Amino acid sequence: MADSLKAPVHPPVSTTASAVDLRPRDRLGRTLRDLRISVTDRCNFRCPYCMPREVFGPDHVFLPESAVLRDDEIVRLARAFIRAGVNKLRITGGEPLMRAGLPALLARLAALPDAADLSLTTNGWMLARLAPDLAAAGLHRVNVSLDALDDAIFGRMNGRDFGARRVLDGIEAALAAGLGVKVNMVVQRGVNDTEILPMARHFRARGITLRFIEYMDVGTSNGWRMDQVVAAKDIVARLHADHALEPVGPNYHGEVAARYRYVGTTTEIGIISSVTEPFCSACHRARLSADGRLFTCLFASTGTDLRGALRSGLDDEALFALVSGVWRARSDRYSDERAERLARGEHPDKIEMSYIGG
Ligand SMILES: C[S@@+](CC[C@H](N)C(=O)[O-])C[C@H]1O[C@@H](n2cnc3c(N)ncnc32)[C@H](O)[C@@H]1O
Ligand code: SF4
Repeated sequence: MADSLKAPVHPPVSTTASAVDLRPRDRLGRTLRDLRISVTDRCNFRCPYCMPREVFGPDHVFLPESAVLRDDEIVRLARAFIRAGVNKLRITGGEPLMRAGLPALLARLAALPDAADLSLTTNGWMLARLAPDLAAAGLHRVNVSLDALDDAIFGRMNGRDFGARRVLDGIEAALAAGLGVKVNMVVQRGVNDTEILPMARHFRARGITLRFIEYMDVGTSNGWRMDQVVAAKDIVARLHADHALEPVGPNYHGEVAARYRYVGTTTEIGIISSVTEPFCSACHRARLSADGRLFTCLFASTGTDLRGALRSGLDDEALFALVSGVWRARSDRYSDERAERLARGEHPDKIEMSYIGG
């Protein structure tokens, strides 16, 4: 890759706490800024890289309703996380639009004092119908996952033979409702990498940011292999050969996507390179599973049971102390260590992405 196209560097996190910055810092000096909240472990797709049919088939046992956090529990937890420093809330799953009454929950989150940036990640299948209600509830942005335009390829990527049209209609409906829209594409070598350029051209023409995500070894069920990963630098090189790109600096410290702009346009792309160029030192993200377990790393094996704490009657002060304490104890940096751990033959029992929230 040409030097001028090198991905913007993720700056190291300062470990010097400023006099006014009372946010908890973890053992590597990282603050907590970003919370992903999974609102369901269920999904209407069976993307083989996330919920392969062989594992998530008819016999798979999903969480019972009583185990899933209720709206009021999610709102209380969000308040504690915002107090601990979170300024971005992202609703995810499973497929979050499958949660009944989601707009009402969003409205409560949007109304929180110091309301954080509120966004949602969805496969877009139910978006055309729900977009107006989501926008009216106060949602700011959606990230729509779409791995191909070609129906045959997309059908394989979603595991259900669903075509792309309905997701594209969902994207248009979200734009029409006034929501910010970005599109996420997981790239898997030999499965959908032929779609990199068609997707790029389509969304460039629409002026929509497309973000390419390296295929990751989340969970244990997708049979991930390194040779299925198309490296970020190769994706950028292919795009640059089609239409010149220029790097754009990060919007904020710790932004996970390296950003580029198509020269002569205002349209950007993003690249999320957590496999080939890990960014653990700038990771400010925690994840809450649908049943209220707190995970401090996407590749974690264990989490902290916040639902149990909530249901045992913990008050807001104790809840804040619990959340802050978990963050302070954090030292995980799996992506940085991946290569060494795999070389040592270590295969940790990682949580599935559909459960932990992507
Ligand atoms: C787990 S999904 C949950 C939200 C929603 N169902 C969706 O697909 O957007 C969140 C994101 O994780 C991505 N994802 C899932 N498994 C992945 C993997 N193994 N590697 C990279 N990204 C993955 C999905 O493509 C999606 O963009
Ligand atoms: S990536 Fe999203 S849409 Fe695909 S199976 Fe996972 S949760 Fe469902």
